[in-house]
Amino acid sequence: MPTPHISAGDGAFAEAVLLPGDPLRARYIAESFLDDAVEVTAVRNMLGFTGTYGGMSVSVMGTGMGVPSASIYITELIRTYGARRLVRVGSCGGISSDVGMREIILAIGAGTDSGVNRARYSGWDFAATADFRLLLAAVDAAAAGGHVAHVGNVHTSDSFYNPVADALGTWQRMNVLAVEMETAGLYGIAAEEGVRALSVLTVSDHLVTAEETTSEERERSFDDMVVVALDALVADAA
Ligand code: HPA
Repeated sequence: MPTPHISAGDGAFAEAVLLPGDPLRARYIAESFLDDAVEVTAVRNMLGFTGTYGGMSVSVMGTGMGVPSASIYITELIRTYGARRLVRVGSCGGISSDVGMREIILAIGAGTDSGVNRARYSGWDFAATADFRLLLAAVDAAAAGGHVAHVGNVHTSDSFYNPVADALGTWQRMNVLAVEMETAGLYGIAAEEGVRALSVLTVSDHLVTAEETTSEERERSFDDMVVVALDALVADAA
């Protein structure tokens, strides 16, 4: 049955789903990395595809930007379409001086200024964490591919243009590696629904050094990240 935001038929999605923010990136992943990919939904141009990778059935679906948008698609993919392993592939802004441009960050946990996990957790502070086995598989996949991958906490912000004075200082004091806009939502939903999730990110800009990537560099690091995510899903299924 279609949902309010996804028009695919029953069984159209795989249990393993990659989640880029940008729907055109979903199409790019489907066309560049999956075999026999077919478009399964395009409501509001939020594109979803299903194909295979290394013989494993896998889907890829855009989420839009931010926790509210991503939460809609993630919830419907899990509740209606049977998604059980969800891996976000996206960009982040580097905070730690240990993380370099274009390097991969595997988010072991996500703090947030979003209220969604407090709403889920009776107002207490929920520990929004990655699935351990997916995380381990991604660490191995990154090492096998020769990519630098940092494992640590990220901050999921509701604001790209953050109004909080010295937010950066707070993140640095707590040794947060990077800031992005979806992971805490993904991990909170995954916990509540009893499914497994991971965020694989690349550093597209650095908040301290003010470095930015060119679109060509972003494409190359995006490709590396997608292969790490797909290889991790295949290894995890074995
Ligand atoms: N802030 C939030 N999200 C991001 C950033 C950022 O600086 N860079 C990439 N995603």
